This record gives sequence, C-alpha cells and structure tokens, in this order.
Amino acid sequence: MDNRTIGVMDSGIGGLTVLKQITRLMPDESFIFVGDQKNLPYGEKSTEEVKSFAERIADYLLKRNIKMFVIACNTATAAAYEYLKEKLPVPVIGVIQPGSEEAVSVTKNNRIGIIATNGTIKSHIYEKTVSRIDPGVKTFGLGCPEFVSLVESGQAGTTKSFKEVSDQLKFFAGKDIDTLILGCTHFPVLTKEIIKAVSDDVRLVDPGVSAGMQVQDYLTKHDMLASPSQAKTGNFYTTGNVSKFVEVANEVLGKKIVAEHLDL
Ligand code: DGL
Repeated sequence: MDNRTIGVMDSGIGGLTVLKQITRLMPDESFIFVGDQKNLPYGEKSTEEVKSFAERIADYLLKRNIKMFVIACNTATAAAYEYLKEKLPVPVIGVIQPGSEEAVSVTKNNRIGIIATNGTIKSHIYEKTVSRIDPGVKTFGLGCPEFVSLVESGQAGTTKSFKEVSDQLKFFAGKDIDTLILGCTHFPVLTKEIIKAVSDDVRLVDPGVSAGMQVQDYLTKHDMLASPSQAKTGNFYTTGNVSKFVEVANEVLGKKIVAEHLDL
C-alpha cells in the first residue's frame, strides 16, 4: 500500500488523455498533473531543452512526494525517459514502449503508421522501438505539429480540424498500413477526425491506454496501490494561462476541473 500521489506531466492538454486512462483504471489514486504550456510546443524544441523541461517538472513533483513519475508526452519520453529513469528515485513510466508493443501486437500486415510531433518523428524512437520488438515490421512516420495547436486552441471537432487532419493524413494513402500509432498524447482528442481520414481497416493505437495499464501493473506488482479508504486528491497545474487550460481540459476530461498556475 502506498498513498502518495502519482505525478503526471505533459507540455499541455495532451497528457490529460493519459491521466484519464490512469484514473479510469485506478480511481483510488491521487495525482498531480502538470501541463507545461509556457514551453509548448515541445515538438518544435531541441532534445536538450525538452529534457531540461521534463527534469524541472520531475524535480518539482519529487518535492511534492510523488511515488511515480509518468511522462504523458511522447516528445518528452523520447528526450528524457532514459535519463530520468536512471536519475529519479521513483519509478518512471513513458508512453513509447507501451504504445509500440500494442501496435506490434495488433498489426496483421506488419505495416504501421506513426503520427507524432516533429521532435518525436526526428528522434526515430518509434521506428527503433518497434523494430526492436519485431524487426519485420515496416513503419511510416509523419510529423503533425498542427494537430497539437488544434487541440490546445480547443478546435477539436470543428470543420477546420476535420479538414486539416484529412489533408495531412493523405500521406498514408497507398502505404497500406493497417495500424496507426497516435504518437502524441494530444492526438486521441482528434480521434473522430482521424477515423474519418483513414480507411476503416486501420486500427488506431493510443499509447496512453497501454501506458495506463503499465502504471497499474507496476503499482500492483510492487504493492504500491493506494488504499481505497484514503481521501484522494487530484491537482492540476499549468505553467501557462489557467483559464485557457481549464476551458480545454474540461472538454477533454468531460468534467469540470479547477487548476492553478505553477511558476517553474
Ligand atoms: N503531447 C506531446 C507529445 O505527446 C507534445 C506536444 C507538443 O508540445 O509539441 O508528444
């Protein structure tokens, strides 16, 4: 039993798609979520910068006595997971390994598409992780930074968003993929748009779902789940504008939340 909180970070709203999975699977857990909107988009920053943003958030959350650090951001997982896993005194969960495992297990024709930020695509991390799991799988990666802006500005579900997603995903025409990894935690918010843009045969993989299961697995195996009888807490912070964060977060989470500003 461990009643400390789980720390979850992203550059912004996207990480809430991972948090949603964690709280769905483990409703008794307390959490602290940090969206680093001051530094968004991570996908257009250098690896070193993203690594230092993630480290700063981890250091802050450690002071808040977290029992686990979840990097609910693909770009930050690519830049900082290995480093933080070694450095932090608490377990670190990223989103890339679980997402890759899930994609390799569902593909039938061994052709997987990846949509992510430019930072994640340029790191080739999905390509490498997928081929480490199964060298016979071919991947096709596409950077879609515009999708992050659509989500952050609360434009998911609009005509503009359907058009943008459909235009970008034309890249996959003729590539014969049967699986598509949503390699940015913002992208599950655009699921309707993405389904409409790709063929019905394409299975979408949201790495947040398997990352949530990995969190549960780890806490269960290490006897670190929170006691159901403890009073649970959930705190949301943004390093950016609080009212903008809350407006979009309410949409994504489907409930009203309260958030505070965090100066890091
Ligand atoms: N949500 C982030 C990811 O999963 C990145 C978005 C961004 O800040 O560019 O990669």
